[in-house]
Amino acid sequence: MNSEDANMSLCLVTGGAGFIGSHIVRRLLELGQDVRVLDNFSTGHRKNLTEVAGRIDLIEGDICDMPTAQRAGSPKPIPSALWCANTKYQGMLY
Ligand SMILES: NC(=O)c1ccc[n+]([C@@H]2O[C@H](COP(=O)([O-])OP(=O)(O)OC[C@H]3O[C@@H](n4cnc5c(N)ncnc54)[C@H](O)[C@@H]3O)[C@@H](O)[C@H]2O)c1
Repeated sequence: MNSEDANMSLCLVTGGAGFIGSHIVRRLLELGQDVRVLDNFSTGHRKNLTEVAGRIDLIEGDICDMPTAQRAGSPKPIPSALWCANTKYQGMLY
C-alpha cells in the first residue's frame, strides 16, 4: 500500500466509545492522527467521546455487520486499526 492508496494518518479504533478505546482515541488525536471510531454503544458511552466530538469520524454500528465493517474501511484502505471492541465474534473478520 502506498500513500496514494490510503490516508496514512488515519487510524480506526473499534470500540472507541469504551473505557480503553476512548483513552486511545484521545491519545491518537494528541499525536496528530486522524481517528475513525466504530462502535455499537452496547457497553460504550457517548459521553466518553463528548470531548472529541467533531474531531473524529464516528460510525455507529456493529463490527460483525459486514456492510458496516466495509464502510469503516472505505473509501480508502485504513493503514492501522486498534481493536478495542469487546465482542466474542471478533475472529469473524480475520
Ligand atoms: N478494562 C480493562 O481493565 C481491560 C483489561 C484487559 C483487557 N481488556 C479488554 O479490552 C477490551 C476493551 O475493554 P473495555 O474495558 O474498554 O470495554 P468496554 O466495554 O468499555 O469497551 C468495549 C467497546 O466495544 C464496543 N463494542 C462491543 N461490541 C461491539 C461490536 N460488535 N461492534 C462495535 N462495537 C462494539 C462497546 O460498545 C464498547 O464501546 C475488551 O476486549 C476487554 O476484555 C480490558
